[in-house]
Amino acid sequence: MSALQAIKFDRELLTLSVLDQLLLPYATKYIPIYTIADAFDVIKRMQVRGAPAIAIVGSLSVVIELSHFVQGKFRDQGYYDLLNVDNLKLQLIKRLEYLVTSRPTAVNLGNAISEITALVTASQATGVDGLFKEILQFGCDLIDDDYTNNVKLGENGKSWILSKLESEGFEGDFGVLTICNTGSLATSGYGTALGVIRSLWNHSKGERSDEEPSGKRAKKALKFSRAYPLETRPYNQGARLTAYELVYEKIPATLITDSMVTYLISTLNKTESAAPIKACVVGADRIVKNGDTANKIGTYQLALICRQFGIKFLVVAPKTTIDLNTKHGDDIVVEQRPSVELQNVSGGVVDPDTGDVLKNHEGIAITGKVGVAAPGIDVWNPSFDITPHDLIDGIVTEDGVMEKVNGEFDLGRLFN
Ligand code: MRU
Repeated sequence: MSALQAIKFDRELLTLSVLDQLLLPYATKYIPIYTIADAFDVIKRMQVRGAPAIAIVGSLSVVIELSHFVQGKFRDQGYYDLLNVDNLKLQLIKRLEYLVTSRPTAVNLGNAISEITALVTASQATGVDGLFKEILQFGCDLIDDDYTNNVKLGENGKSWILSKLESEGFEGDFGVLTICNTGSLATSGYGTALGVIRSLWNHSKGERSDEEPSGKRAKKALKFSRAYPLETRPYNQGARLTAYELVYEKIPATLITDSMVTYLISTLNKTESAAPIKACVVGADRIVKNGDTANKIGTYQLALICRQFGIKFLVVAPKTTIDLNTKHGDDIVVEQRPSVELQNVSGGVVDPDTGDVLKNHEGIAITGKVGVAAPGIDVWNPSFDITPHDLIDGIVTEDGVMEKVNGEFDLGRLFN
């Protein structure tokens, strides 16, 4: 697995901790999770975020909460009736209902919790030990499958982009846009949209332009050469997290603000020596039946810009992000975040002379918040927006890349 680990889960010792993503990229601190309530808090505060990661942490917190009874540590035992498994199951289901309210838009958590609820309801276990084993197996499968599927997403997205560009006769270097963070930090590892960029980069490293045969123009190798992550206001997951992953992986990348996309594309298009942007890859928090996609605020306008310039726009997500029960994007509940997340900016405190982040006497970066908005101003802070399916060229899942037929996606086909 990738060395950047958002979630540390020890299946032998039964311990769980999450990397505090609010402190990244300046400080690295893991927060231990002992209960479902702990998971609720880190998810709500966005110390762990990204649709797949939220689902994994939520599910594993159920494993950890039950493990205390199995191991005889009895944390939170006041809540559960340990003498009657039917009562215990009902109490657990109430805890699950509460957990899912931590972040409503990302469907992965809701899907995983529904599956755990169904498992608990159907379980024939006569005691907490049996129930625990079943949920442990579910949690382990969830994290393992997520990783395996991410690698497939990366390959599927990469192959689709390269074959489309090849069939258009495009040659040479190209760039790719992305928004938010969809990498190792948002998943069990590797990532979804950022996984496609990782796979494209791995492919490019092996590509060489053909030697010029006498009298003929050399064919330039088709290769991804640069990622353009958007900073992703208001919480800066692009600037803090995606940029961190790209630097860490040594993938060439240039950070831009969310408002620079149009000018960047037109500038690169006009510059003969530049590698133009040929694709945009984004993740998803919920893809509904018709393909309308909830993702980080800013995704919709990015899709509109891509359409204007004829740039391929791909949504990359595992099938656990698909919600066939919701038919249309208008029916998605979009999470509203606290206004302080827009009014304040968090980060490392910098030395005004050198620009370096200051460290305390233990060598740990000093982080803080500064206000950037006029006090008293009203704020609207939706965390996500909904991109209509007509702006999406393809939905990349572990099963392949689905394109529209007669303008419509048939996502139900993926579950037959
Ligand atoms: O608010 P966040 O940081 O949880 O938003 C995350 C996104 O919008 C991601 O694009 C999405 O969850 C997919 S992550 C693989």
